[in-house]
Amino acid sequence: MSAEAAPSLVSPVSTSRHSFEAPLRLGIMASGNGSNLESIAQAIADHQLQARIQVLLYNKPDIQAAERADRWEIPKHLLNHKEFASREALDEAIVALLHQYQVDWVIMAGWMRIVTPVLIEAFPHRILNIHPSLLPSFPGVRAVEQALAAGVKIAGCTVHYVIPEVDSGSILMQAAVPVLENDTPETLHQRIQEQEHRIYPQAIGLAASQVRSVD
Ligand code: GRF
Repeated sequence: MSAEAAPSLVSPVSTSRHSFEAPLRLGIMASGNGSNLESIAQAIADHQLQARIQVLLYNKPDIQAAERADRWEIPKHLLNHKEFASREALDEAIVALLHQYQVDWVIMAGWMRIVTPVLIEAFPHRILNIHPSLLPSFPGVRAVEQALAAGVKIAGCTVHYVIPEVDSGSILMQAAVPVLENDTPETLHQRIQEQEHRIYPQAIGLAASQVRSVD
C-alpha cells in the first residue's frame, strides 16, 4: 500500500456519543509493530468492516504502529507510560482521549500494558484484545514461547473481551494453526499472525452485531 493510495479513515465530528451502528468508531491501542492495526485498516478500506479508526493510542515513541497510522492518515497520540504516576493515571488519560475522539469500541492490538478498571468501566463490554494463543491456554507474556515449550501440536490466536484479569474475558473468536517440527517462536508467531489479521476485523464486526441483536 502506498502512502498516496491510503484512504482517510478519519470520521467527521459526530454529535452522538455512543453509537453501535455502522460505521463503528474504533480506537486502537498498540505498543509495537501494528500489523493488526494495518489489517483492520485494510479490512475497512476493502469494505469488509463497516468502521472508522478514530485514533491510535500508543505508549512507546518510534514504534512501527505509529508510522502505519501516518500512512493511513489516522490521528495518533503518544501516551508514554513512563510519564504517568500510576496505571490508573495512564488509563484516565486514555479514557479522556477516547472520549475526545468519540470512540465506541476500544481495540487493543498488541497493547503491552495491563489496563485497570478506570478504562474497563468507561467502556463496559466494548474493549477487545487479541492474544497469540488458544486461550485459556498460555495467557500472559511470551505466549508463543509458552506453547512451544509445552509441546502443543496446535496453536492459534484468540479475540476476547477485556476484563480486569489478564487474557481472561469471554472469548469471541479463535483460529488454530499447526505447530511444525522445526518451528521457532518467530516462525510460529508469523503463522499465528496470518490468522490474527484474518479474524480480528471479523471479530470486531461480530461483537458489534451481537450488541445490535440484543438492543
Ligand atoms: C499480536 O501477536 C497479538 O496477538 C499480541 O501482540 C501482537 C501484536 O502484533 N497481543 P502487531 O503489533 O499487531 O503486529
